[in-house]
Amino acid sequence: MMAVLLLHFIVSFSSKTTDISTDRSTLLALKAHVVSDPRNFLTTNWPVDISICNWVGVTCESRNQRVIALNLFNLSLSGTIPPDMGNLSFLTWLNIGYNNFHDLLPVQLTNLYRLKFISMSDNNFHGEISSWVGYFPELQ
Ligand SMILES: *[C@@H]1O[C@H](CO)[C@@H](O)[C@H](O)[C@H]1NC(C)=O
Ligand SMILES: *[C@@H]1O[C@H](CO)[C@@H](O)[C@H](O)[C@H]1NC(C)=O
Repeated sequence: MMAVLLLHFIVSFSSKTTDISTDRSTLLALKAHVVSDPRNFLTTNWPVDISICNWVGVTCESRNQRVIALNLFNLSLSGTIPPDMGNLSFLTWLNIGYNNFHDLLPVQLTNLYRLKFISMSDNNFHGEISSWVGYFPELQ
């Protein structure tokens, strides 16, 4: 019995830390793909030594501490969106409008089936994303 309880504790504990660290490595990958941050938004507001849930523009669900919203609206950021973004599996709200993100949007974004709101306007993305709409059943 004790062994089962202990195993349960270890499994749930390790899967929980894996979840949080996945969101953390995703946001660090995004930060690393930003080549220009003229207002020092990310360098100032996304310090590596505090929880990502305390980063400006990042909202976590209070109980499971997963990232549910990301707001990087109008920050003059330049760079690309890494495929890792598709790992933010609890994301429901994404606003990266009014920046200078460019190149292709990674197809991995279609993994984010919980998305209710997406804004990517006023960037320099290439390619067609209208065919992706079917991947977001919750989209409003
Ligand atoms: C974007 O930010 C700049 C500088 O803070 C501001 O002047 C501008 O009105 C903002 N644009 C939008 C669309 O919010
Ligand atoms: C996130 O996704 C990428 C591919 O899109 C994958 O290679 C990577 O291993 C994932 N990272 C984590 C921490 O799960």
